[in-house]
Amino acid sequence: MKMNRILWTFLAVIVAFSVAEAFLDRKAQQLVNGICKKTTDTKYCSEVLVKNLVTPTPSNKDLMNVTLREAERFSANANFFIGTLLRNAGDERPDLQMCAAAYTIVNIALRNAVSYFDEASYSKIPKLEDKVAKAVGICKTDFNVPGYKINPMIERNRVMLILTNMAKIVSHMISS
Ligand SMILES: *[C@@H]1O[C@H](CO)[C@@H](O)[C@H](O)[C@H]1NC(C)=O
Repeated sequence: MKMNRILWTFLAVIVAFSVAEAFLDRKAQQLVNGICKKTTDTKYCSEVLVKNLVTPTPSNKDLMNVTLREAERFSANANFFIGTLLRNAGDERPDLQMCAAAYTIVNIALRNAVSYFDEASYSKIPKLEDKVAKAVGICKTDFNVPGYKINPMIERNRVMLILTNMAKIVSHMISS
């Protein structure tokens, strides 16, 4: 009985994965591969796009929509996360405050980018993406966070830069 359940779970996972793989049409999959190969984490990039696109034949605008909204969501979560770290912070407080400042800039810029997207003011978006990439650099990660072996902002900065890079690549596709 128990074995059966494990087997079914296993099968369900396989089916879920093949559906995700087969969701985009061939041309869209090539488009996604082309974008993601230009990033530092092809796998993460395509997972984000495949998971969030709602049509098998996405336009460049659909790709931009998903990328900007994911970036905005991620930065809001990172900002909230830093807030939770600050609540019990000791010596690392000033460093965390720099990260909080950084991610506040990042989150505002991305919220504005999403608004510009919604108004179809695409030409205003690349400037904000540059602002985001710069602001992430304000969050230095050479400090210890109690309870973490590795500073958790290292991974957040890494992902934030991938999402920003994706948004930049897609912006180029829209403006050209
Ligand atoms: C962008 O994505 C959001 C959330 O998925 C959706 O509600 C909205 O209609 C999309 N906008 C465009 C222009 O595709």
